[in-house]
Amino acid sequence: MSAQPNLFKSKIGVIAATVGSAVGLGNIWRFPAEAQSGGGAAFLIVYVGCVLLLGVPVMMAEFALGRAGRTDAMGAFTCGHKRSAWQSVGLLSILTSFLIAVFYMVVTGWTIEYMFESITGSLYSSHPGEGAGADAHFASRMAEYVQGTWLPMLFTAAVVLLNLGILLAGVAKGIERLSNVLMPLLFLLLVAFCVVCLTLPGAGAGLEFFLRPDFSKVTADVVLNALGQAFFSLSLGMGILVTYAGYYPASTRLGKTAVTVAGLDMLVAVLMGLIVFPAVFSFGLADHSVAGTALVFVTLPEVFAQLPGCRIWSTLFFLLLSIAALTSTISICEVSIRFLQDRAGLSRRASCLWVMLTLLPLSLLCSLSLGPLSGWTIGGLTIFDFLDFVTANFMLPLAALGLCIYVGWVAPKGMLKGQLTNGGTLRSRLTDAAIWIIRYPAPLLILLIMFSPLIK
Ligand code: PHE
Repeated sequence: MSAQPNLFKSKIGVIAATVGSAVGLGNIWRFPAEAQSGGGAAFLIVYVGCVLLLGVPVMMAEFALGRAGRTDAMGAFTCGHKRSAWQSVGLLSILTSFLIAVFYMVVTGWTIEYMFESITGSLYSSHPGEGAGADAHFASRMAEYVQGTWLPMLFTAAVVLLNLGILLAGVAKGIERLSNVLMPLLFLLLVAFCVVCLTLPGAGAGLEFFLRPDFSKVTADVVLNALGQAFFSLSLGMGILVTYAGYYPASTRLGKTAVTVAGLDMLVAVLMGLIVFPAVFSFGLADHSVAGTALVFVTLPEVFAQLPGCRIWSTLFFLLLSIAALTSTISICEVSIRFLQDRAGLSRRASCLWVMLTLLPLSLLCSLSLGPLSGWTIGGLTIFDFLDFVTANFMLPLAALGLCIYVGWVAPKGMLKGQLTNGGTLRSRLTDAAIWIIRYPAPLLILLIMFSPLIK
């Protein structure tokens, strides 16, 4: 095991890096879609409840395990013992994060490519203007690009190499320094977009759609979606928080950090709602999909095309998206890097190279699976969709379940409390409540998420 690894240097760095991981495409393109179908603010209320009552305690459990172990996400599961079968839970989370990284690199490549095309203006050059054909324009453009061969591969490779460069610089000099610059920039961009979108003519109707709760839409399905979204958005079950917490200074207050990170992550989701709904209502696109890739690569470009200063707004938006995606990719790659460092005894440099050079061909293959290799399917799904499906539906919940059981029931009794109170020096009423949630409701609710596809 490495000697004291380099830790994050400042409180701001701890928050910036962890929020950087949490704020990702999940906030930007999953949240608005869930809010659209889940009754606007009614979904938001359920979501906030899931984050605070379940997400924050599970996050505290991951932090505690990570800082107690100060090692990789698998080694952390030994809690001082030599070996433990529970390490397989850690291994599962590392494998899950690696598989997520494979397809997340591809999507991050799209966002960077769209940023370049916004800068050059080529994204908008053949736009037919308003009226017939306008709607289909960006949809077919996206399909053409995503199903292409060389361009998406080029940008996927660029993203992997960019990650390699950042990660080679190390924890404090790479991850922390980058997050300290990019996260404030991300919030600045979000606020700027909010101001612009909220002042568009007709924005009020969108605002009303988002903020007026329609509780009739809140079905059991919607609640389960909110639970799943809370887990994904907070990066739970991926080994990321366990790994990052290994770099937290001993003085970091884990409960306070979890609440801050979750709060900022929710803030980004809400800001996205305040951007997306006013924008689409204002331009008469309210019936358009705000789901997933369609929102960012089709509907929003349609909005930008109608805005004065189209290229600038489009560039800034894809910059925002690229920042959100990049800070998530570095966190997810760090999981495997730390694993190789501590389990295989490799140097940081060698671990970075091994992880990223293994990831590269797999991500390229994943990119091709949407185009020339779309015939290669697993259970009827392309490689890309298959990875997304198995990680989200099976691997992540299973890893999170194992983690809660281990931290709540198996790990030495004082570990969790000791970490959450910094060795008894902090007192907080939150701690006991969090411990109770980690032991009882959290595992049950995760089981519910796991079996929900069977119930639906
Ligand atoms: N929380 C991230 C998101 O919302 C999840 C994630 C983290 C995905 C890291 C990939 C890598 O997108």
